[in-house]
Amino acid sequence: MKFFLDTAEVEEIRKAVEVGIIDGVTTNPSLIAKSGRKFAEVVREITKLVNGPISAEVTALDTAGMLKQAAPLIKIHKNITIKVPMTAEGIAACVKLAKQKVQVNVTLVFSANQALLAAKAGATFVSPFMGRLDDIGEEGIALIEEIRAIYDNYQFPTQILAASIRNPLHVKQVALAGADVATMPPEVFWKLFSHHLTDAGIAKFLKDWETAKK
Ligand code: E4P
Repeated sequence: MKFFLDTAEVEEIRKAVEVGIIDGVTTNPSLIAKSGRKFAEVVREITKLVNGPISAEVTALDTAGMLKQAAPLIKIHKNITIKVPMTAEGIAACVKLAKQKVQVNVTLVFSANQALLAAKAGATFVSPFMGRLDDIGEEGIALIEEIRAIYDNYQFPTQILAASIRNPLHVKQVALAGADVATMPPEVFWKLFSHHLTDAGIAKFLKDWETAKK
């Protein structure tokens, strides 16, 4: 299972990457706006930190506009993955980009049929948003499970990129459901390391070591 960071904060990415288990990054227009920085500049910096897919999202709503916005992004680095919205226009853009061997991430996916369309369009990644489904009282994890079953039925190579992950429980759930990738905010990544028994165990070992005959 791959771990992606869901952020446009370069310093946060730098810190997490040092651990050595980050496989990629996802950004979206809200995260770029939150960073307060220029889109292309941020994406370029991320390509220098992470050797893996980096999702950069287009904002046009028509296919031609999406392809126009994708063109300069693709030139930034071979790892740039174009993120398109789950609309008919986005799927048409995905088909065209995939034919050019450009990696595409179909985002804002909230149903199994939408994920089926993304796979048919040759998307490299499909992004089901589990947190936003949980927010409205639906079960995000059920969607991941459905997509896994459908993709396995037909051996679709599109990777399930579990998105809108809000907590460590979501990470465990998507790992159990067989998601290929989990993209998570840095704070969720750091929370995965913690357990109070680990901290207590380290403290006890250190205390006992002080009294040991060395
Ligand atoms: C994924 O690619 C999106 O950027 C992200 O996971 C959305 O998460 P949110 O629902 O917490 O905004």
